Order: sequence, then C-alpha cells, then structure tokens
Amino acid sequence: MITVKTIEEARMQVKSWKNEGYSVALVPTMGSLHEGHASLIKRAAKENEKVVVSIFVNPIQFGPNEDLSSYPRTLDKDTVLCESAGAHLIFAPEVSEMYYTDNVTGVNVQGLTTGLCGAKRPCHFGGVCTVVSKLFNIIPADKAYFGEKDAQQLAIIKRMVRDLNFDIKIVGCPIVREKDGLAKSSRNVYLSAKERQAALCLNKSLTKGKEILSSSEKSTKLLKNVIRNVIQNEVLAKVDYIEVVDSISLKAVDVVNKPVLVAIAVFIGKTRLIDNFIWEV
Ligand code: PAF
Repeated sequence: MITVKTIEEARMQVKSWKNEGYSVALVPTMGSLHEGHASLIKRAAKENEKVVVSIFVNPIQFGPNEDLSSYPRTLDKDTVLCESAGAHLIFAPEVSEMYYTDNVTGVNVQGLTTGLCGAKRPCHFGGVCTVVSKLFNIIPADKAYFGEKDAQQLAIIKRMVRDLNFDIKIVGCPIVREKDGLAKSSRNVYLSAKERQAALCLNKSLTKGKEILSSSEKSTKLLKNVIRNVIQNEVLAKVDYIEVVDSISLKAVDVVNKPVLVAIAVFIGKTRLIDNFIWEV
C-alpha cells in the first residue's frame, strides 16, 4: 500500500490502474478511522481490484464554532487500519493541495440539504458536496463507498451524482455498532466514561421506535414522542432533532406509509452524535 499527498500522484496511479483494466473503488474519509471505516474498505476490496482511501479533514464542511481544530488527526494509526482492511492507496493531501486560496467554486444540492443536520449547519453539505466532487474528479473510481450512519450525506451524494452525471456508482454500507449498540463514530473519542454510557440512549430510542413501527403504528408524531421520551430519560442527553422523512427526498412525512428515514441528532454533553434507521414498509 502506498500513501500519496499530491493530486498529481493520486491521479497518475489511478489512471495507470484504469489503463491496466483494474476496477477502482474510492472510500472518502476524514481519517480517525474506526471499524465503521474498516467495513467500508473491506467491502470495497471485496467488490473491486484496487481501493483508494482519501484521508482529508475538509475545512469547508465545518462551521465557525465546530471542531475543525480539535478533530482527531491520526494518520499513522489510520495507515495501519487501511492496510489491514485491504486498501492499496491512501490519498492524504494538505489543505493547500486541495484548495486554491482564491477558490470561488463550490457544489450545492438544493432542498435535501436544508433539514436534519443541514438546519443548524447551513454550510456543511455544500462543503461535503464540493470536496466529494473534487475527489471524484481526482480519483476516477468506478464505485465510492459511504456509511449509512450519515444517511443525509448519503442521500445528498446520490442525488448529486445523479444530477451532475458523475460516472461513479455510490454504495451505501450498514452502520457498524459497538457491542452495546452505540454507532461507531470518530466523535465517540470525545465522550467521558459517563457520557459514553449516556450515549446508549440514541440506539435505545431507535430500538423503541422500531418496536412501535412493528406494531403497525403509522403516526410520525407518536413515533417521535416515543423516541424523545427515551432520550429525555437520560440526564446528560439533549435532543437536537428527531425527524421522520422520505428516505429519498428527505421531505418530512406525517404518516409512515412509504420507506422513511428515522434520524436523530443528540448532544451528549458537548458532543453531538447522530444515528438512524430506514423503515421499509
Ligand atoms: O463522511 C465523511 O467523513 C466526510 O463528510 C466526507 C464524505 C469524507 C467528506 O469530507
């Protein structure tokens, strides 16, 4: 496995693989890799001959008061994980390699970006779509792998690829959880021992939500209340949002009579965690 830091080196390597007829996968990440990322890389390695992992903490997807400066940067550890999961190339550029100081171009997806996480993070998905578009142009992969934990991000990227005719297939991969149910996240490292325990309320609340839907309940209002009650029982938790939306358009629904995304964001202390499930009717 090799690590490159420049666009030129990454492009040359991937082009030579493509010329030799290899199928190429891209797994875009911001590093601080965990088993969730490993599962994406392993799946990519199973379905493709060459796997590129990009590791880049993308400044333009962080808001002014967010954790850009403290976001964990662990390239040495990440390299070990990438290698053991079956990656062939790490693309780990500096910010100056990815963005011109006088950059004025960005990619924005309308509508899908304004609710859920986008409601309080107005620039976030523009930053994500811009960097993902750049990565797709730098690494001409056949497929790109994203986690279903970031369900809104996945829906937005699928729509962007469709609308802008990117020649790449987007593959969504299931959420990977700790044994006790907490969804794996790079931000879990911020949690104290007490907060780590409190964070279990996210998965517990969604499990309760699934139970309600299994009993043929169709009211979104009732579903949200049930989820909210579980979270509010945890003193260290504060609900940011609980939403039930159409799984493709991300528009809010009142009645669960088509596939929906049930998505939550919860502050555990200062750390904001997200989790979700898709309910197929
Ligand atoms: O999901 C992430 O880690 C990031 O949003 C992504 C897709 C790598 C873009 O920076």
